[in-house]
Formats: sequence, C-alpha cells, structure tokens
Amino acid sequence: MKHSTQVELIKRVFALFEAKSTSMGEKIYRNPVSDYTCADQLQLEQQHFFRDYPLVMCLSSQIANPGDYVTDELSGVPVLVTRNSEGQVQAFLNVCRHRGAAVASGCGQGKKLFVCPYHAWTYDLDGRLRSRGPADAFPEIDADNASLVALPVAEKHGIVWVKVTPGGEIDTNDLFQGLGSEIASYKLDTMHHYQTSKLNKKMNWKLVIDTFLETWHIGTLHRQTVAPIFQPNINVFDAFGRNGRFILPRRSILELKDKPEEEWDLLTHSAIIYLLFPNTLIVWQGDHIETWRSFPNGASTNECIAEAGFYTPEPVTSDKAKNHWDKNMALLMATVEDEDFPVCLDIQRGFEANAQSYITFGRNEPGLTHYHHNMRSALGLKEAPAI
Ligand code: FES
Ligand SMILES: [Fe+2]
Repeated sequence: MKHSTQVELIKRVFALFEAKSTSMGEKIYRNPVSDYTCADQLQLEQQHFFRDYPLVMCLSSQIANPGDYVTDELSGVPVLVTRNSEGQVQAFLNVCRHRGAAVASGCGQGKKLFVCPYHAWTYDLDGRLRSRGPADAFPEIDADNASLVALPVAEKHGIVWVKVTPGGEIDTNDLFQGLGSEIASYKLDTMHHYQTSKLNKKMNWKLVIDTFLETWHIGTLHRQTVAPIFQPNINVFDAFGRNGRFILPRRSILELKDKPEEEWDLLTHSAIIYLLFPNTLIVWQGDHIETWRSFPNGASTNECIAEAGFYTPEPVTSDKAKNHWDKNMALLMATVEDEDFPVCLDIQRGFEANAQSYITFGRNEPGLTHYHHNMRSALGLKEAPAI
C-alpha cells in the first residue's frame, strides 16, 4: 500500500478515535431474512456466482512452479489448475474424457502427467491427452479432441481466478475494481502457502463473509481472544466497486501519534480485510496473509463450506517458525470456529424460526450494507422498502 494512502488512513483512524466513532454509512439497511433461507435465491446464486462468475481459486504461490497443481470442487464443479512448463496457469474440468473420473486429486508439485486412476488415460499440464491404452480401442476419436475441457483462467497480482463454466474469457481489468495496485503491493506471489483448513457448517454461505464485514462485535464476542489486540469499535471501510476494504487498527496504532508521518506504518499496526466479491476475503494480518472462501454446500440454504488459507512471508523450515505460525493459525481458528461460527449457527436457526422478515445493518456496519446491496443488485433482486 502506498505510504500516502497509509498516512491518509491512519489520519482517519485518529479522527475516528477522537470522535469515538467508526465508518458510518448513510442510513441503516434492512436485509431480508430470505437472503439466507430462500432456495430460489440460492439457485440464482449458484448459477450467477458459482457457475458464471470468476472465482478466486488460490494464491499464485500455491502453484508457484511449473508442474505444480491444485484441484478444487468447492463450487460443486471439479476443477484442476496447473502451471505448465512455460509457467502459465491453466484450468480444466477435472473430468477424464474417457468415462468421467477425476484425473487428479489434492494438490502437488513437479507433475508432468496426470494419469487417470480408472484406466490410465494420461494428460499433460496443458490438458492434452498423451496416451490412452490399446491403440485400436478408440479408432474413431482423435486424441486432439479428447483433451481435458479448458476453463477460463486468469492470474493477476498473485491471485488465480477461474470461471468453472467453459467458454469466454476473464476480464482481468474488472476483477479488482480499483484495488489492483494496492493488492499488487502485498506481493502475494512471494508468500508461502502454509496450511489450508476446510470447515463444513450448517449455515448459509454468506454468513461466513458477513462475520468479517464488521468489527463491532470484537469488543463483545472476542473479548477473550483478539479484543486485546484491536481497537474496539473502530473500522475504516471503503467501497471499491463491488469489492471493499476494511482497516482494523491494532491498539498499538496510537503509538504513531508521537512519531513523524514519514515513520507511520499502517501495515504493522492494523489488520486489513479485502472483500473480493462475491465469496472471498484476503486478510493482511500484519506479518502474514489469510484467505477465506465460502461456498454453498449443494442446494441447501443452510449448509456451507468455508476454507481458510494461511500464507507466510518465508518458507516454514524450523521448529521455531512452525511453532510461531501454528500459534497464529490456532488463534485464527479459535476466534472463528469457537466464537464467530457458533453465533452464525444460532443466527441461521433464528432465521429459520421466522422471528422477523428483515435483519438490520446499522450505519456503523457499512461493509454489510455494501456487500448485500451489491449481492441483490447482481442477482436482480429487489431491496427492502426503506423504513
Ligand atoms: S475414466 Fe479415465 S481412463 Fe477411464
Ligand atoms: Fe469475529
């Protein structure tokens, strides 16, 4: 992040601190409970976001070298992403052209060929069929027409995006919505993948994102975990098109008041959450990066899969470093799994109890308003009538 932007944001934090306030939206926003319970809406979301939209698949560093690959089926569509011998990222449906088995599983490095586990049809990193058993078994089918089905893929500023429906291209100018140069400054492609955890939860997929889009609850829900680290009740939110950015100042940020502006450093004194619409968060945590992706689990409005990725600035090679990052990961998971998600599960049950038709986002929750307003508008859904 440019130093001038850091100074501007720190000034805003100080002004909010003086005013005992936080970023405020123009007005409250009523979000229909059906947003989290309506099967028809979920069907729209599945089609519009999880089939037709470019989705963040991983950070570039997870497939840093030729021959590295990841597989993914959180969207419901089996995907294989590779880095080919020229260093370009490629994406395919992870579906064998013989009889449909998945040709790769998990993730790995140094691959040249993917051998289907069923009858050993073999594909290269560019998805081309390289061998397929007895020469006279498939005389009518040209090997060139039996490549893995390619998917639109893009790699920019250290992030890999895939559209899981074949056809068309991804417009890389549209992905960041004005956040591109800022996200580029984190050099995500130089980070090292440490761990990924997947959680199945009985709640709507958007609740995973919602829980990161306001920090008001830190002082209450997280008072035993991260509240001692962060300034309670202050967050600085800015919308960037359909994306967004939150600054969560650490308590230590006040130390900067006594220092000259040239020494101000927002990045060590805050956590920064980037919302990449519709289902991804990239979180700068002062010295490492966390990512969150959330997906509906099939056709259930109240089941989701949340994936947390953890990336470190250096490769973790010593026991000391492993201990350090394990503690960080444990704090993250304790905060989210033991504190945020249990409340989200209650909320989902509350939605299904039909207590109310709408929930309300306060003026001090502008990130939630921004997210759900964009969500409804992208899906062509009406907004709630104003009070
Ligand atoms: S399904 Fe892949 S080789 Fe038969
Ligand atoms: Fe939280």
